[in-house]
Amino acid sequence: MLSKESLAQIDREIAKYPPAHRASAVMAALRIVQAHHGWLSAELMDAVADYLGMAKIAVYEVASFYSMFETRPVGRHSVSICTNISCMLNGADDIVSHIENRLGIKTGESTPDGRIYLKQEEECLAACCGGPMLMVDHVYHEYLSKEKVDQILDQLD
Ligand code: FES
Repeated sequence: MLSKESLAQIDREIAKYPPAHRASAVMAALRIVQAHHGWLSAELMDAVADYLGMAKIAVYEVASFYSMFETRPVGRHSVSICTNISCMLNGADDIVSHIENRLGIKTGESTPDGRIYLKQEEECLAACCGGPMLMVDHVYHEYLSKEKVDQILDQLD
């Protein structure tokens, strides 16, 4: 289930902890596996649990708690829009509506071609002075306008 390449990367993470604490590498292992597969299926999480000697439920708990992990199929590029107070006062709601209309999907959905996942609205991504802002695949884009958003989305393959 886990590729040789993934296992080699996970082994490097496991080596950072004492031998009795392989489970400490669980977040890194999930990040590695998600990077290879795009999302974390139950089968993949079970394989991580077996490899780290953890209970399967403990791995599910980690994967479902942290927002950077996806436990269902999503588009290749993850787009998160901050709608907290600073961004909201600078027009974040209009940015959300613009993106939803342009992509033809609602927040939480992916485009049918699998290109873009419009992830949940974020509470605050700590770039308040650059609002409105969004994050694409963990890269920040600030001082957004509708035109700038269009350029960002058009560049995603
Ligand atoms: S309110 Fe948007 S980054 Fe802080």
